[in-house]
Amino acid sequence: MSIFINDQTKEFHLTNASISYIIHILRNGQVGHLYFGKALRHRESFQHLYRTSNRILDVYPIQSDSSFSLERTKQEYPSYGTSDFREGTIEIKQENGSIITDFRFKGYTYYSGKPKLMNGQLPSTFCNKESDATTLEIELEDTVIGATLVLSYTLFENEAVITRNARIMNVGSETIRISRALSCCLDFDNDNFEMLQLSGAWSRERHLIKRELVHGIQSISSTRGASSANHNPFMALKRPETTEHSGEAYGFSLVYSGNFLGQVEVNHYHLARVTLGINPMLFEWKLSPKETFQTPEAILVYSDLGLNGMSQTFHHLFLNHLIPKPWHKELSPVLLNSWEAAYYDFNEDKLFELASKASTLGMDLFVLDDGWFKNRNSDHQALGDWIVDKKKLPNGLGVLSDKINQLGMKFGLWIEPEMVNEKSDLYKLHPEWVIQTPERSKSYGRNQFVLNYSNPEVVDTIFKLLDTLLSEANIEYIKWDMNRNISEPYALNLPSDRQGEFFHRYILGVYSLYQRLRDKYPYILFESCAAGGGRFDPGMLYYAPQVWTSDDTDAVERIKIQYGTSYIYPIKSLGAHITAVPNHQILRKTSLKMRNDVAIFGTTGYELDVTKLNVEDEATIKEQIKFFKRYQALLHLGDFYRLISPFEAHNSNLASWMCVSQDRGEAIIGIYQTLAVVNPGFDRVRLRGLDPELLYRIKGSNETYYGDELMSIGLSIEGLYNGICEENMQNGNEPLFGFGDFTSKVVILETADRL
Ligand code: DGJ
Repeated sequence: MSIFINDQTKEFHLTNASISYIIHILRNGQVGHLYFGKALRHRESFQHLYRTSNRILDVYPIQSDSSFSLERTKQEYPSYGTSDFREGTIEIKQENGSIITDFRFKGYTYYSGKPKLMNGQLPSTFCNKESDATTLEIELEDTVIGATLVLSYTLFENEAVITRNARIMNVGSETIRISRALSCCLDFDNDNFEMLQLSGAWSRERHLIKRELVHGIQSISSTRGASSANHNPFMALKRPETTEHSGEAYGFSLVYSGNFLGQVEVNHYHLARVTLGINPMLFEWKLSPKETFQTPEAILVYSDLGLNGMSQTFHHLFLNHLIPKPWHKELSPVLLNSWEAAYYDFNEDKLFELASKASTLGMDLFVLDDGWFKNRNSDHQALGDWIVDKKKLPNGLGVLSDKINQLGMKFGLWIEPEMVNEKSDLYKLHPEWVIQTPERSKSYGRNQFVLNYSNPEVVDTIFKLLDTLLSEANIEYIKWDMNRNISEPYALNLPSDRQGEFFHRYILGVYSLYQRLRDKYPYILFESCAAGGGRFDPGMLYYAPQVWTSDDTDAVERIKIQYGTSYIYPIKSLGAHITAVPNHQILRKTSLKMRNDVAIFGTTGYELDVTKLNVEDEATIKEQIKFFKRYQALLHLGDFYRLISPFEAHNSNLASWMCVSQDRGEAIIGIYQTLAVVNPGFDRVRLRGLDPELLYRIKGSNETYYGDELMSIGLSIEGLYNGICEENMQNGNEPLFGFGDFTSKVVILETADRL
């Protein structure tokens, strides 16, 4: 890993074994971009990569050089209006009404390691030791405004990743207003790409959408106060010929949980510009003299091993440099969650009965979901009053957690700390703490309002309430829920000229509460949740290593949700529960086997009334848990490969994925079929990541294959149902998928000579 700096040509080359990122200073003093991609050998100068030419009608900033126009120059942190007409990364409103900026090179510095963002107030990737990463900071100055801009780039030793952020400092005497401060820009020479995004809705989160780039702006965004179920703060660009396992792909992600904008603008020269950061809509930050504003962190990934290569880079980065320790390696406990088991209808006996049964089945953690606090018998009341309901739990949480601990299980609790119901003591006491616009009515969402976390007094009060709660019982897991988006955004605690800061300050308030709780209770495992996956983003992963992926637990729906989510997030972070049938979200009936076969490719748990299981299901669940624990390290710490996409029209009836151990000696493959196919073909799934030279045996059979056979020819997924199934059954032939709709198979590959 190195940073080469050529002071003469003013070039900066950040490079490690996988990537090169090359920046140079343009002739007008602004920062230009030369290249991001596969590692290049270093040269004394890369100016031969810089292209310029005269184009009639282009505007140019230097009178003597009409060949230099920002309109067609690749830049690092562009702004609109000085010969570039595309949307830029920065816009500053000045006291005279102008929005024109001109940040010019002042100097640079570089050092080992990576500093926290805003002294730790913003989540970001980190190094484990200083030598893991090198950071380059380029300082620019706009002397007219009296502002400096520091562009920060971190290169990790072992990752095909550049992380970026920008800092703006007011060093002048005027107050300035930042109306746009994105985290990154990446300009490409052409638009020969397809754009991928993960979009959806509640219970249908992170479905993969692919589109060709066209002239104009294509974007994803959130204005909801949360990153949202509608668009994840992630985009990828891939070449048309790129597949899951070969070709070039670029991934972009934002370590942020609030409003964001990610866009690709293609201009008339077919140049593609990617920008990502805080959504400028609804954003304006007042920066007084001597104040600094720092953007969230953007992550830029390059892969020449296709989309799966890009995903593995994200997974590796998040596990090693984002998820809090020790959870990056620690295997998550198998949990029973009380929500779909009992909803609001429980007492201490019922909970203890559920936990006792869960412990006999082999589960490790009992999670008491919504409904445990005073008057919380429906979603109409009580949010904000974080005091135990003595009617349901007369002995309190301490006694309950002790009893559960005596079963050999951990105890976990649900909270929704950002919210309040109108019917609550907290609301009666502090109606002014709710987000509301003066003289306007407040919209409802799940009968609740959002607390104004931009007000430190609110955050402090909630911290104290939760602190008391956590000291009363042995709570080792917290599910932090968030069930509505922000409407009528306004902060009563902020003056009128700071209302544009509200959304960002809100999310900073959320982060500060997470940080305080993590600092005081470092052993607590947090799972973030937002009505399922409505805030599944790297910002949350920094505090909470697992995320409730979706409220939709139907096995068929989950295939798409988990498949989509895997494009960026490690499967170890995907909360995945086995629930009752008919499924509570979609009323579909799937087998216990299929529900398990999907859930094990996530942090498995159960969420059903285990006291009502029949003997056969009890035995099956015991076996499932044993199996999961045996293979959990392979599933959660192995390399993940997508094999058959449920989003591809030609085989949307099938899906498949696999995990391979680090030493490639063991693999686990999940194969799923939605609808039964009569008289099917002779399909195979080609496996990935195996050792071509190794002989593998399919566990439970005598079949052996070399790795190269499984990767080049594939594993047979031929179904046997062909209209004469009874005859087949009599012959003792087991169909691969079983009969009927909604079927699945999990295959284990072991090294043959190990057996
Ligand atoms: C929404 C969550 O996603 C569910 O899992 C559950 O915790 C409910 N909220 C409880 O109100």
